[in-house]
Amino acid sequence: MRLKDFTSNLKRSDPQTFRRLSLIQTMEITIKFTINGKIVKVEVPPHWTLLRLLREKLGLTGTKEGCGIGECGACTVVMDGRPINACLILAPKAEGRSVETVEGLGDQVFLHPLQQSFIDHGAVQCGFCTPGILMSAKTLLDGNPHPTKEEVKGAISGHLCRCTGYQQIVEAIEDTGKKRKVIR
Ligand code: FES
Ligand code: FES
Repeated sequence: MRLKDFTSNLKRSDPQTFRRLSLIQTMEITIKFTINGKIVKVEVPPHWTLLRLLREKLGLTGTKEGCGIGECGACTVVMDGRPINACLILAPKAEGRSVETVEGLGDQVFLHPLQQSFIDHGAVQCGFCTPGILMSAKTLLDGNPHPTKEEVKGAISGHLCRCTGYQQIVEAIEDTGKKRKVIR
């Protein structure tokens, strides 16, 4: 049964429970967490996902919503150093945590080396998958600065890209690691 049908049935059959649930939906709680290095305090309905909080309350629309069910990786952000699907995490779970999104990676003036490498390798086409992949790639390189091709493939295995065929993405990430080696 679709949610819409369920709620209209409930409204008819059990108006009291329906009113209680509606009340819960309008309630907000305050959460405090770090986003891209800045501490924020924000009011949010407890049933919202972290993805919705980022996009609709904080205006961080770089993080994309694809499937909404944890299968495409478009919504990937980094929480306490680990990539997570923001569509699967309730916003209150961010309380006290540190969250990084693509907006914290670089900007149009100072690109992160990964962002520059994606441009150089033609790894961005429509760009919908790119923010999520960048966050997974950043986490990989933070822990393993010179990953092998297989390690790169493993790190982005939870991401779907409909445009590139993945090869340019893998090369862009691998090359970022190799360039770091040259700098050292
Ligand atoms: S939108 Fe979260 S995994 Fe697809
Ligand atoms: S560049 Fe279009 S989905 Fe990946």
